[in-house]
Amino acid sequence: MFSKIKSNLSSAQVYLKESLLAAILSAIAVLLVVKDFSSAVLLLIIIFVIGFIFLNLIGRKRNNEMDEIKTIINNIRKQLYNDYDKIVLNKNLSSLETAIKKMFQKSKSDIEHMRKLQLMRSQFIANVSHELRTPIFTIQGYIETLLDGAVNDPAVNIRFLSKAKQHTINLSNLLNDLIDISMIESGEMRMSYRFFKVNDYLFSITNQFLPMAEEKGIELVYLPVNDSVEVFGDREKLKQVFVNLIQNALKYTDKGKIEVFAEEKKKSVKFIVRDTGIGIPAEYIKRIFERFYRADKNRSRSVGGTGLGLAIAKHIIEAHGSQIEVKSEVEKGSEFSFELKK
Ligand SMILES: Nc1ncnc2c1ncn2[C@@H]1O[C@H](COP(=O)(O)OP(=O)(O)O)[C@@H](O)[C@H]1O
Ligand SMILES: [Mg+2]
Repeated sequence: MFSKIKSNLSSAQVYLKESLLAAILSAIAVLLVVKDFSSAVLLLIIIFVIGFIFLNLIGRKRNNEMDEIKTIINNIRKQLYNDYDKIVLNKNLSSLETAIKKMFQKSKSDIEHMRKLQLMRSQFIANVSHELRTPIFTIQGYIETLLDGAVNDPAVNIRFLSKAKQHTINLSNLLNDLIDISMIESGEMRMSYRFFKVNDYLFSITNQFLPMAEEKGIELVYLPVNDSVEVFGDREKLKQVFVNLIQNALKYTDKGKIEVFAEEKKKSVKFIVRDTGIGIPAEYIKRIFERFYRADKNRSRSVGGTGLGLAIAKHIIEAHGSQIEVKSEVEKGSEFSFELKK
């Protein structure tokens, strides 16, 4: 009882000045009005007792409110609330209640965001390890077979060596893509924008792939724009995008042709890479820009895909303030396109 009163009074201390002022003013009033000394003393004692009771009541109310707030903060700390509806304070503390609810929502969404990032990171590491394992094991297998005697067998030795070599190329492609992804993630991928001529640029990129197309028996053409047309962008990064789109078109097309177009528009140039390949089933289209996502896993791996190319391309195009779009029909072909400012 005594300790309760003590704690109430100590909580009411914040109002001590005001209470003292009220007491002094009342005492002056009493002394002015009441001339009789003993009645004045009595009245002063009554004022003192009332003041004391008053301070005790205020202190108690304050203590109760603070207890309520402490309980809520502790419950939040112990993660006892799933929803902010459970956070309820006294009516006269409604603005504090709203503030606590907002803070609760914010920290809840921050935590969820962090969990998601954590999950993405562990999935990413799992994917990377898996992707690294495949070529390393394959190379190891070929080398062991060669050491076990195949090296002296002219029927297989060169074939095994060139297969092992192909897997080292896949491995280094994967590492390059991983470096790009990590630069994108850490914001270190620096862009350097400049105007450059479209035709020379795309002729030289598509020409690089002519031997590969010829080998597959596929026609590869670039349909140019007016020679003077220039676009604004990062030449090197955009080259990476075109290379990936053309390589994909080559990888996922067995017959027909691949067309690379540039179409001049009012304020931009639209680029299109169109193939007559295997196409992408509608349900996978949304996901092909995700890291490591492959609609056709077996084919992608066998042709040395990393599943990272489109994720990188999407980022590069978005850094240019544009969007990469895709239209595709199974067995008919695919078309990837984006626009750049001119
Ligand atoms: N032109 C295309 N035709 C059919 N499928 C494609 C084409 N381009 C991309 N894809 C699908 O999208 C997936 C992701 O492409 P990408 O990120 O470049 O990875 P990768 O080529 O290394 O497999 C591919 O695995 C493939 O399933
Ligand atoms: Mg690719």
